[in-house]
Amino acid sequence: MISALIDLKRGDHEGLVVQLTSRLRSLIATGRLGKGRVLPSSRRLANDLGVSRNTVTYAFEQLAAEGYLAASHGRRPVVTVDGGGHGDGVEAARSAARSARPTLSPWAMRLKQADWPLSYQAPFKPLRPGHGDAREFPNDVWARCLRRSAVHAARREVGPVNRPRLCEALAHYLATSRGVRASAGQILILPSAQAALTLIAAVLIAPGDEVRVEDPGYPGAAAAFHASGACVTGMRLDEQGMQWTSGMTAPKLIFMTPSHQHPTGRLMSLARRTEFLRASRPGKTWIVEDDYDGEFHYDSRPVPALQGLDTHGRVFYVGTFSKAMTSDLRLGYLVVPPALVGTFEIAQRHVGLIASSHIQEALAEFIADGHFLAHLRRVRRLYHARRDHLAEGLERHLGEVLTAEVPSGGIQLVARLKRGRADRAAVKRLVEAGVVTRALSSLALNKPRDHGLLLGFAAWRESEISAALRTMTSCF
Ligand SMILES: Cc1ncc(COP(=O)(O)O)c(C=O)c1O
Repeated sequence: MISALIDLKRGDHEGLVVQLTSRLRSLIATGRLGKGRVLPSSRRLANDLGVSRNTVTYAFEQLAAEGYLAASHGRRPVVTVDGGGHGDGVEAARSAARSARPTLSPWAMRLKQADWPLSYQAPFKPLRPGHGDAREFPNDVWARCLRRSAVHAARREVGPVNRPRLCEALAHYLATSRGVRASAGQILILPSAQAALTLIAAVLIAPGDEVRVEDPGYPGAAAAFHASGACVTGMRLDEQGMQWTSGMTAPKLIFMTPSHQHPTGRLMSLARRTEFLRASRPGKTWIVEDDYDGEFHYDSRPVPALQGLDTHGRVFYVGTFSKAMTSDLRLGYLVVPPALVGTFEIAQRHVGLIASSHIQEALAEFIADGHFLAHLRRVRRLYHARRDHLAEGLERHLGEVLTAEVPSGGIQLVARLKRGRADRAAVKRLVEAGVVTRALSSLALNKPRDHGLLLGFAAWRESEISAALRTMTSCF
């Protein structure tokens, strides 16, 4: 048994990962674990050694990066070099591998290990979810704002990384449209919503902190918190949204999308919102509200942001212009609770998550002159019609196999498989036929319970949606 060859000292100044990596390395280098030897799974070895599974996973990852092991997801690692007890060959392999592949930080190792699908690598074709229609964006008006911003650049005050005109305009927009209560000074302008999540994780999360996220949910959030060393737990959803479990120990942070749950589009009930806020009050738990597509609501007035109900300064509010304007803009923002503004400003500068002043000033003008709201009003009508067109088409042509859940807002909808669980196979077939969707099960953190397709409607014209529906019909 390999564990009998490994002696780990708890409390040693070298952490367990370093000790385990070094013991395994020397067992390979001395030939005691020869080429081709299949090592136990990380779960088994962790059990035998009485350490956490992460410790073993990180050690395996490190040795794979150094060229000693071949390790791939879901397979037991295999020794790839022949130590032979003499060390020459293996030393050469080791130094070659070391010089070619840098040692990764725990942050990078966790990101690699998590393997969550942060960016969706699929062709940009109907009905790819997650986008608004860039073709509808008023590029001529935007170009004028950009030009004026460039012309006035020399006269602008140099300094504030979060441009005051934009923060003022945004604070006003968020207060009137989303019920967010924040001064301009609480707003950080960042390159994306994902950057906001990374910044929150960097400032608040210590290894081992408990973080709860929605399941199914947005993989980018789980990845950001996991990479910082958090124990990320997925919380099931019911009709009211993310579930609050009474008696649950207070986690360090809860991430949620209460306005349109990602991916299901569900709205979190007021009762549930109040429960989460109450739980955060003892001052142990931070709530991160991601309102990524809160601008789009079709059936009734939108439910105001959870942040507006928070009277104790426990809620971070994250937004993005990727959906409301265009994803190429690369602009998002973070509303920080008052007590943490100074700390977040320092962190923002240190990690350099600073958006171009030219673009911030242009956007300030775009909003102040009413172009942002006018654009939203126009695309809201358009996306509303597209949502209905897709939902009706699904019902009419694919009602036997799929049940569409029509969200009251947002840019995408979920169509559940009526039978079976083969959503990934269905997505593969559809992509081959030219229709891009995402499998609901691929967004699960625990064992997937939900099986279906995530279909975008906002970015696609009705004619494109109709054509995609015809293709889908032939694939089921
Ligand atoms: C729920 C959710 N939050 C955040 C983001 C990321 O937005 P950004 O492009 O600004 O990083 C996305 C992107 O799809 C999303 O779906």
